[in-house]
Parts: sequence; structure tokens; C-alpha cells
Amino acid sequence: MGISPCKCANCCARSLGPPSRRFSPIGRSAPPGGAANPAPRPRRPPLRWRQTYGAGEVAEEFLRNYGYTEVLGPQAPWPAERISCGFLLLGPSTRYPPHRHLAEEIYLPLSGTAHWQQGARGWEAQPPGTVIHHESGVPHAMQTGSQPLLALYVWRGGHLDQKARMEREHVR
Ligand SMILES: [Fe+2]
Repeated sequence: MGISPCKCANCCARSLGPPSRRFSPIGRSAPPGGAANPAPRPRRPPLRWRQTYGAGEVAEEFLRNYGYTEVLGPQAPWPAERISCGFLLLGPSTRYPPHRHLAEEIYLPLSGTAHWQQGARGWEAQPPGTVIHHESGVPHAMQTGSQPLLALYVWRGGHLDQKARMEREHVR
């Protein structure tokens, strides 16, 4: 049994096709009508999944279930100095221990309802579509349940290359 594509014009999102045919690098939009002989696009490095912390800093179980990839920022395919944006992925039943950083942070969960905690507040379930703001220097933590968490993040201010610090009681 196959899945047949919907033929309606109103209820379904349309396909945008491959991103490389749709979007120009930031600040290099094509002129109206398109260029007769467009210059070759700069080849962007691929997204890389990374971890802020290393073995010995946090639990091995956390490192097996955590990663992020930066799309826009100092180390990203689209370079930026004052803002960083990417995706965080946490596996099921994973606790991201309390940590803090100078940059203020905005999260937008895209998939998976996790519990989030910051400052003196209690834990709160945050479903996809919720906007979560962490002010500079305020400790915060996340705990997933049965679902993994995929969230868009934005960092701005502070020193974007300065990594987050685990709260002392969570340092290994
Ligand atoms: Fe954070």
C-alpha cells in the first residue's frame, strides 16, 4: 500500500524543492529577473553535529543522547558574528543538566514535549511551538520523557564562542 500525494491546491504545503535552488546566501540575493550568467555559488561546508561538553565533564549517557548543529554563527556554514542559530537534539529520557552562559538564548521546540526549568522556577512541560527564553547567566535545564526533543535555538549577545558552563554540582 503506497501513499498517494494529495492533489488539492489549498490544504497541503507545496514542495519548495532543493534549498540550493531556492535560497541565496545571506546578503547575496539575485537581481530581479535573475542573472544571465550567475556566478557560481560559494560551496558551504555541511552541517556538523557537535557537542559542547566532553567526556569527563558530563555523564556518558548524556553524551550518547545529545548534539547540536549550528546553521548560522561563528563556526557555521553561514557565518555570523553576533548571532548563532541551529538545532538541538536530545534523545528520550535524557536530562540536560543545569548550565548557564553569557549569551541569551531562545528555544523553539519543533518536535517532542520536554520539561524545562530555569532560575528558581519549577519544571514546566513545553510542547512544540512554545517559545522559551533564557536570559544571560540564568541557569536552565531540560528533561525529555519518552519522546526525543528537536528544537531550534538562537543565541545572541555575550561571546558566542564562549561555551556553556555546567552548574558546579553537575560537573563530573
Ligand atoms: Fe542554554
